[in-house]
Amino acid sequence: MKTTIDSYRARAGKLNLDGIVFDDFKDQPLPPDALRTLRYMHDVEHHTVCYLRDLLLTPAHQDPEITSFLSCWVFEEMWHGEAIGQVLEAHGEQAGVPRIAALRLGRRRREAITTFSTIGSAAFAGRAFVALHMTWGAINEWTTQAGYARLSDTAGHATLRELLRRIMKQEGGHIDFYASEAGHRLGENPKAQKLTRFALKHMWRPVGSGVMPKEEVGFMVTYLLSGDKGADVVDRIDRRVDCLPGQDGLHLLRGAVEKFAA
Ligand SMILES: [Fe+2]
Ligand SMILES: [Fe+2]
Repeated sequence: MKTTIDSYRARAGKLNLDGIVFDDFKDQPLPPDALRTLRYMHDVEHHTVCYLRDLLLTPAHQDPEITSFLSCWVFEEMWHGEAIGQVLEAHGEQAGVPRIAALRLGRRRREAITTFSTIGSAAFAGRAFVALHMTWGAINEWTTQAGYARLSDTAGHATLRELLRRIMKQEGGHIDFYASEAGHRLGENPKAQKLTRFALKHMWRPVGSGVMPKEEVGFMVTYLLSGDKGADVVDRIDRRVDCLPGQDGLHLLRGAVEKFAA
């Protein structure tokens, strides 16, 4: 059954941080690898607004249900970044505005190229491009939620576990919308299926790989997706992609692990 935008909007909102004691991290700091992963997640969550800028240049901006979703989605993702920033600050690290400003300055030229290629592709593909974006969004939200779950298990820190549980719950709302939209838009449009399959096969990369240094992507993929538990996550998400109309057999996550973990 198609997820309605009304049910998502009714639940959407600023991340609830009641009872999260960030000073716990001063008494019990996170292991270095967990902290490195959180830096990545902080930067990527805060980058969502730039992704939104590109999305609104495509035919997606003509669909009021999608723009309604995106308005709430970008707000929630920003607060995910802010919450993770508080964890970094509790470890004496820079977060929020100064960290993000430096990141954006370094990525300005690459961002411009991405934006122009998005406009060009959207003009060529029309509404099929919206199906691609919904599918891309579903896969990114699946991997983001799974990444938080792996970090929560691996870090073994009670306060982080509770914070990530609340973030993952909101990521679940994003999954519901993107996956529902992807399913019905692909299902009724063979052109969209072909376009999406081609784009995923040739262009899909793990969340954040367009803005984060390659060594950080490699670290994050290895840390979260290696070992038996990581392999379970990879297989689960690849099976979900298999279920989307016209997208079976792509093995995106398995391919990303082979490429980036190497
Ligand atoms: Fe998020
Ligand atoms: Fe999300």
